[in-house]
Amino acid sequence: MRTRLAPRERLALATRKLCIKTYGCQMNVYDSARMADVLAPLGYSATDDPADADMVILNTCHIREKAAEKVFSELGRLRQIRAAREARGLGRTILGVAGCVAQAEGEEILTRAPFVDLVLGPQAYHRLPEMIARLSRAGTAQLDTDFPADPKFDHLPPAGERGPAAFLSIQEGCDKFCTFCVVPYTRGAEYSRPVADILAEARALAAGGTVEITLLGQNVNAYHGAGPAGATWGLGRLIRALAEIDGVERIRYTTSHPRDVDDDLIAAHAEVPALMPFLHLPVQSGSDRILKAMNRGHDADAYRRIVDRLKTARPDLALSSDFIVGFPGETAAEFQATLDLVDEIGFVQAYSFMYSPRPGTPAAGMAAQVPADEKARRLASLQERLRDQQIAFNRRCEGLEMDVLLDRTGKWPGQLVGRSPFMQPVHVQAPGTMLGTVRRVIVEQGQPNSLSGRLADADPAQAARVRA
Ligand code: SAH
Ligand code: SF4
Ligand code: F3S
Repeated sequence: MRTRLAPRERLALATRKLCIKTYGCQMNVYDSARMADVLAPLGYSATDDPADADMVILNTCHIREKAAEKVFSELGRLRQIRAAREARGLGRTILGVAGCVAQAEGEEILTRAPFVDLVLGPQAYHRLPEMIARLSRAGTAQLDTDFPADPKFDHLPPAGERGPAAFLSIQEGCDKFCTFCVVPYTRGAEYSRPVADILAEARALAAGGTVEITLLGQNVNAYHGAGPAGATWGLGRLIRALAEIDGVERIRYTTSHPRDVDDDLIAAHAEVPALMPFLHLPVQSGSDRILKAMNRGHDADAYRRIVDRLKTARPDLALSSDFIVGFPGETAAEFQATLDLVDEIGFVQAYSFMYSPRPGTPAAGMAAQVPADEKARRLASLQERLRDQQIAFNRRCEGLEMDVLLDRTGKWPGQLVGRSPFMQPVHVQAPGTMLGTVRRVIVEQGQPNSLSGRLADADPAQAARVRA
C-alpha cells in the first residue's frame, strides 16, 4: 500500500525539481527532453541531482540484458535517497520508470520494485500530468504501457529551447523484426510524423538558436510522412525542405537501415550541403548467413554497394556502424567475415556488442548460443580493429581545416568544444561569444576520441583548405 500525497505537497508542486536519468539511444534523449517540456507547466524545473529532486524518472533501455538490469540497481539506490530526503523532512519523491524497460516489463517492475510510483511506456509521455494527478488522488502506483491509436506527438506541448545542436524525432517504432531485437516490441509499429509538424518543430528550434538538427528514428530512413496535398514524403525530400529553413545550417539523421537507403536520399547527400558527411549505417555482421539469420533483409554485398553509391555521391562521407558478435551459431569463419568487411569499408567510429539474448525474440531460443568467453574474445578483437581505424582517421584530420559547431564549454578556461562535420569532438581556445556558432578550425592534433585545433580566423593563411 502506498502513502497518499498530502494536500500541502500537492500545492508545493509550483516549485518542484525534476531529475530525469536517460539510458539507451538518442530517441530516449529526445523523449526525456519532451517529458521535461510536459512537466514544465506543472512547475517542475530540471536538476541533475536525484537527492535534490521531487520527482526522479529513469528513462530506460531494454536493448541488452545489462541495460535492463541497471534499472533495478538504480531503483534500489533511489529508494534510499528518497528515504534520506523524507528523514530530512522534505516531501515524498515521486519515482517513475519510463522508456523501453517500462514498456517491456511494466507489471514486473511494480512486482520487483513496489515502491515505484509511475511506470510509463514511450507512447504515454503526454499523459504524465494525468498520471501524476491520479497518483496524488489515489496514492497508488500508476501504470501506462498502452499503444494509443493517436500518436503522442499530437498531444505534446511545443518543444522548449534545446541549444546549438538538437534532436528531432521524425519516425518511431520498427516493423523489421530483426531476430535479436526488442525494439519492435517496446516501441511498436513504424510511425512517421507529418511533414508540417516536423517543419514547425525545426523552425521553432532554429528560432531558439539551434544550428544543427539530428533527425531521429529507430529506422529514420524508413520515414514516409504525410506531406502537403496528400503526398507522401521520404527522408530525402524532408531533408531538402529542412535545409531551406533559416538558421538550420547542419542536418544529420540516425539510425538508418541499409534496406531503406533510396535513390533520393543518396542524391540528397550529393546535393544538400547542409547534410553532414557522416553517416551511422549499422551492418551488424559481414557474414551473409548470419545476416539472413538476423533477418536483416540484405547481404554483405548489398551493404558494400550502398556504401559505394553514397561515397560516389559524397566522396568525403565518413561511416559509422553497429556490430553484434557471437550471434547464435556464428562460426569463427563467419566472425572473420565481419573483420574482413571492417577492413574493406573502414569506419571512423563504431559501436559493437556481444549478442545478448532478449526474452521473447526469436534468436534467444536458437540453438548453438556462443559461449560468453568466446563472445568476449571476438568483441575484443573487433574493437581493436575499429579503434585503430578511428585513431587513424583522427590522425588523418591533422592539418585540415574544417567547420566546427562550437556547442559547449570545455574543461579549461577559455576553451570551447565543438563537433566536426564527422562528429568528432573538437577542443579549441575561443571566446565564449562564439558559443553556438560554426567556425573554421585548423586541426592540430588527432587524439583517439577527439581532435584539438585553433580558430582559422585568427590565422587564415595557414593549413590546406579542405571543404568539409
Ligand atoms: N534500428 C537500428 C538499431 C537499433 S538498436 C538498426 O537496425 O540498425 C542499436 C544497436 O544495438 C543495434 O544496431 C545492434 O547492434 C545492438 N543490439 C540490438 N539488439 C541487441 C542484442 N540483443 N544483443 C546485442 N546487441 C544488440
Ligand atoms: Fe531492431 Fe532491426 Fe528494427 Fe533496428 S531494424 S530497431 S535492429 S528490429
Ligand atoms: Fe534502448 Fe529503447 Fe532505444 S530499447 S536503444 S531505448 S529504442
